[in-house]
Amino acid sequence: MVLHYSRTSPIGNQPRYLASTAVFLVEIVKLVTSLVLAIYDTFNSNPSIPPSQNIQKLYNSLFSPDSWKLVVPAALYTLQNSLVYVAISNLDPVTYQVTYQLKILTTVLFSILLLGKIISSRQWMALILLTFGVAMVQLAEPLNIGDWRERLNSIIQGKPGPVSSTFKGLVAVVAASMTSGLTCVYFEKLLKDSGSQSLWTRNVQLSFFSLFPALFIGVLWKDGAAIGRDGFFAGYNAIVWFIILLQAIGGLIVAVCIKYTDNVAKNFAASFSIVVSYAATTFIFQTPVTLHSTVGGSIVLLALYLYNGHSASHGPVLPTTRER
Ligand code: C5P
Repeated sequence: MVLHYSRTSPIGNQPRYLASTAVFLVEIVKLVTSLVLAIYDTFNSNPSIPPSQNIQKLYNSLFSPDSWKLVVPAALYTLQNSLVYVAISNLDPVTYQVTYQLKILTTVLFSILLLGKIISSRQWMALILLTFGVAMVQLAEPLNIGDWRERLNSIIQGKPGPVSSTFKGLVAVVAASMTSGLTCVYFEKLLKDSGSQSLWTRNVQLSFFSLFPALFIGVLWKDGAAIGRDGFFAGYNAIVWFIILLQAIGGLIVAVCIKYTDNVAKNFAASFSIVVSYAATTFIFQTPVTLHSTVGGSIVLLALYLYNGHSASHGPVLPTTRER
């Protein structure tokens, strides 16, 4: 919501802030935070050895021979984050959030393909229910079928106007969902195959490689002329800085989720948080509770129960105490 607000609110004669500069700054914040945590981790886990040895250890893991493997998720995450900006600039937040739930299914598909994850039919049912349930919760207004039919007709007939940007937004959100599934699962594979590499050194490497596409493709190539004219920080205000902070914290939390559970669990947690925040919003702002949101919320809970239910051959969505 904050992101959509920042991209669409009236700005008068001011230029709007450039998404590429925000994506770049998010990577800087993540890089610095991950580096501080990596230093803390190294010194904290070997308190008895001299600092010089700890520094050497940290250096060796940051510049490990396999660090190049992070180039792939770095490029894909940058692409995904840029697609999200395109989507949210062209769609209303509800349509964006609902369609982005497609990533729940793409994540499972890539988990099967890349990690060999086994999904029982009961879990498949839970995942499909989750996708529908969370989409229903987000439909804050009852779905106006007439409006959608009109939009669809306009797309099919190729009418110009705002519809064309809706179409652009929808293409971007589908592409972002595919990229999300692929990248998150690839990153999970890297983390879990990493041996002694810590989560934070992997994150330093990821942010480091993400800086290049963010800088060269986004900031310089795409927006270089506008930055040259208006400056890097044109259109920046407290909201933009708040978004940068939110995106950076969100990204780091995603990394922790992927490391200690997996991507499917991460998506369940994200969906559950949507239900909780919906409930909190209706309580705080005293907005009426709609039927489809209540049904959607119940479907999410049912999906969580179904997926997490112990079956003979498959584990729960959250790790057991022993795995943790
Ligand atoms: O929507 P989805 O859950 O795929 O988004 C994942 C987000 O987490 C992306 O914005 C990505 O940049 C961020 N991320 C991160 N650091 C990681 C893993 C993901 O910033 N180690």
